[in-house]
Amino acid sequence: MTTRTQVAIIGAGPSGLLLGALLHRAGIDNVVIEQRSADYVLGRIRAGVLEQVAVDLLEEAGVATRLHAEGLPHDGVNLSFDGQRHRIDLHRLTGKRVMVYGQTEVTRDLMDHRAAVGRPTVYEADQVTVHGFDGSNPWVTYVEGGVARRLDADFIAGCDGFHGVCRASVPRNAIQEYEKVYPFGWLGLLADVPPVDHELIYGHTERGFMLASMRSSTRSRFYIQCPLTDKVEDWSDDAFYDEFQRRLPPDAAARLVRGPSLEKSIAPLRSFVAEPLRFGRLFLAGDAGHIVPPTGAKGLNLAASDVGLLSRALAEHYRGSPAGIDTYSQRALARIWKAERFSWWFTQLMHLFPDNGPFGAKMQRAELDYLVRSEAAQKAVAENYVGLPLE
Ligand code: FAD
Ligand code: PHB
Repeated sequence: MTTRTQVAIIGAGPSGLLLGALLHRAGIDNVVIEQRSADYVLGRIRAGVLEQVAVDLLEEAGVATRLHAEGLPHDGVNLSFDGQRHRIDLHRLTGKRVMVYGQTEVTRDLMDHRAAVGRPTVYEADQVTVHGFDGSNPWVTYVEGGVARRLDADFIAGCDGFHGVCRASVPRNAIQEYEKVYPFGWLGLLADVPPVDHELIYGHTERGFMLASMRSSTRSRFYIQCPLTDKVEDWSDDAFYDEFQRRLPPDAAARLVRGPSLEKSIAPLRSFVAEPLRFGRLFLAGDAGHIVPPTGAKGLNLAASDVGLLSRALAEHYRGSPAGIDTYSQRALARIWKAERFSWWFTQLMHLFPDNGPFGAKMQRAELDYLVRSEAAQKAVAENYVGLPLE
């Protein structure tokens, strides 16, 4: 059974669904093919902070009503070390703010919008395979409910995450990959308890990193740095809260409310970039092309900016100009590398690196001290945290 579309989008994560919504807005036909069920995709607890650039793109796609009603705008962010907390005033330093709104909610809004406008999504597609993208008539094959299908397209958008099939289908000699793996992970816990503060707290302690984040005024997301050898089953909720509380600055620790976990998981930390992001008629966007450690809250935001650029490039193509698709990779990578740098730097600054030795620990402390005393240094952090402009 064969069908045809203009853009075949592989993956129904935030990058695939937002690309679909932006293309729909531009009148470009598209089909999303996802290997998991919609419930499975919605069950993955991931990012929580949106930059203005991502909010603007969701608005452009017509999917920002609930985001504006329920999202929490944050004007500042806190760093803590030595039991002291230091606020970085994002809004005063940059004129911008960030929006706390979970990736799950972004995904749900995009799924609802897609269903409402009637663009097709195939969930639980097996054996998804991309073909012919080095020529002018690429196609995708997959198996749906035991039936083999073929989708012909003008272009394929690989929005299928780090472990997806698209990047893996590119000949090895056509792609260069850059990677750094960090020697620890983040153990995260989601619970219906009030946040410990009205803004996020990123903490550096001699026991390791911690982050106090939130999804709403009644739901919190907490993280602690943990060894990669830890298993989530080894961490009871109480053990998590005990360790998290030890790493919080004292005023916030006193406000911690404990409640049963709704979700608990360990995520490894990785920096990764593939170059280029275009192979003939196949484009990579979001985690399919790059990964950042979550410290800078950039993963979801980069996924959004990639597809913002890609949707414009494809719209230009259909208006008769190839310039956009020819420069997509270069333009996206320029922004990606800056977010990679910030996420890497912020990860180095805030985590415990036992192998760095006493000199490394002193350097880290000196940098934290400098940062909280220098407005210039805070401005550089703020500018990157709220997100660099989409050029
Ligand atoms: P994904 O969300 O990974 O979506 C890709 C989709 O493609 C998935 O639905 C997948 O099922 C589908 N897919 C995969 N292979 C195939 C195939 N062969 N065929 C069809 N479909 C396929 N970022 C932050 O900023 N803060 C965080 O706290 C944070 N935590 C994270 C925790 C984890 C465990 C992970 C993995 C990521 C985290 N991120 C975080 C990063 C952020 O969630 C991602 O950057 C974001 O999800 C990227 O969106 P995406 O749509 O590109 O990829
Ligand atoms: C989250 O709320 O899950 C979150 C927030 C900020 C980060 C990472 C994760 O840097």
